[in-house]
Amino acid sequence: MSTDAWKKLQAHFETVADLHMRDLFEEDGNRSAEFSCSLGDLLVDYSKNRVTRETIELLLELAEEAGVFRRRDEMFSGRRINSTEDRAVLHTALRNRSGNPVEVEGQAGDVMEGVGRVLEKMRQFCEGVHTGQWRGYTDSKITDIVSIGIGGSALGPLMVTEALKPYARSGLKIHFVSNVDGTDVVETVKDLDAESTLFVVVSKTFTTEETLANALSARAWFLERVGDSSAVAKHFVAVSVNEEAVTEFGIDPANMFEFWDWVGGRYSIWGAVGLPIALYVGMDHFESMLEGAHEMDRHFQDAEPGENIPLLLGLLGIWYNNFFDMPTHAVFPYDQYLRHLPAYLQQLDMESCGKSVTAAGQPVEGNTGMILWGGPGTDGQHAYFQLLHQGTSIVPADFIAFAESQNPLGDHHEKLLANFFAQTEALMLGRGEEEARQDLLADVEQGRLAAERVEELLPHKVFAGNRPSNSIFMRRLDPHALGVLLAMYEHKVFVQGCIWGINPYDQWGVQLGKTLASRVFKDLQDESPVSTHDSSTNALLNHYKKLRREIE
Ligand code: F6P
Repeated sequence: MSTDAWKKLQAHFETVADLHMRDLFEEDGNRSAEFSCSLGDLLVDYSKNRVTRETIELLLELAEEAGVFRRRDEMFSGRRINSTEDRAVLHTALRNRSGNPVEVEGQAGDVMEGVGRVLEKMRQFCEGVHTGQWRGYTDSKITDIVSIGIGGSALGPLMVTEALKPYARSGLKIHFVSNVDGTDVVETVKDLDAESTLFVVVSKTFTTEETLANALSARAWFLERVGDSSAVAKHFVAVSVNEEAVTEFGIDPANMFEFWDWVGGRYSIWGAVGLPIALYVGMDHFESMLEGAHEMDRHFQDAEPGENIPLLLGLLGIWYNNFFDMPTHAVFPYDQYLRHLPAYLQQLDMESCGKSVTAAGQPVEGNTGMILWGGPGTDGQHAYFQLLHQGTSIVPADFIAFAESQNPLGDHHEKLLANFFAQTEALMLGRGEEEARQDLLADVEQGRLAAERVEELLPHKVFAGNRPSNSIFMRRLDPHALGVLLAMYEHKVFVQGCIWGINPYDQWGVQLGKTLASRVFKDLQDESPVSTHDSSTNALLNHYKKLRREIE
């Protein structure tokens, strides 16, 4: 990047790249307070980052220069910022609790009317299922919800229903089918009772191969047990923007919960795609999540740049990705209910920012989308934290935890939080050679180590430290808090997309694989040898056909 702010940051980087956070904390006893932000119960301590006050100032200058604030206001006001699909980006409207109207650029009418109508329809439907007013074809109450969808039509509902399990309504179990591997749908339905199972087919386009295959197989499973196709209407509802395709599939449009093309799949849990969530936890908790997200939206719009949480988190990612050349980012929720959060954020972040062409169609300069990964603490400490502490790759990470446990049990929560706090401290501080030597000498003193091994082991016991992290801490993982957290990550993605000049709201990159897969699928429909691909693909397909003949 060759703009003024970028050049100033590059020059600044040369002067601070080798600073150690240990020293930065030594020099400023107030560092934590200076590099922390909060919003209600959300505290974000970003002091364990390799930044100085000047770094932050220069990063904020970069945001200004990249037009982040202008683009943000365009997004909220319905401008068609998703330029390659000529669409507005208004997932924020789905959770707009302000009472203010929202219009899509070039379209008359307040979208909030439709948003309100769908939320009310969701509420009525959920209450019907919960009260038993909506029953199966043999008049059974619904006991099991099976949500069929993939990507943004699955990852969000799966993650949120797990995260909010403590808020689930009794007597209703939820299941998810996403993979076209037959195992997914077979294993999911095998113990279910068709009479009390409700299938929610979630697909924005209603053309996604995996989802249609799974929905057709689910319907076949249902009809094998029921026999009467008129019963389908009581056991299948749809979530989509494509009423025609829903009708063609055989679901009554009256049982379709609509959303709109200005809601991206990976940003869609806040409306009809959230139906499985609302069925599982109830509409009140679902709307509480919307309120949390709206609070973060207001914060993102109104907070001063230096206190703006999504802005700062986005800029810190730029700092590591584009200046330190650290291309991955990890998310470690120290809460078992949030174990699916990293997978959800992978799509949100990587399908949004995994682009190498700017919105204007020019090749990007430098790194864009970071490789996002992660997993629940404390499990990760026994799997990949070795690399985090002593590997050659440095991985900036978000650590997330909550003060209140949903399952208080002895000292488990303190043990969990002790690790949450200690890991970011260890990553930042490290363990110097002299400290490591003292540790080894203490082992010798205690008779746990032969003296002659001290020097041999010493290099293995040194921790360089200076590994950055953000500590994200909230009071309790409740629906409101979850809404705040997820909206925070959505806007972080927005900030980075803006600075890289890409369009975070399209996903043309998923098309090629789909196109080739349908070609290969056709090649697999007979026994004839394949020769129309590269030699590897030809050989693999022919090898499979040979094995298939042996298996059959
Ligand atoms: O991965 C491509 C994608 O279009 C995602 O963006 C989307 O969330 C997913 O497939 C499912 O799409 P649909 O909701 O239209 O079935």
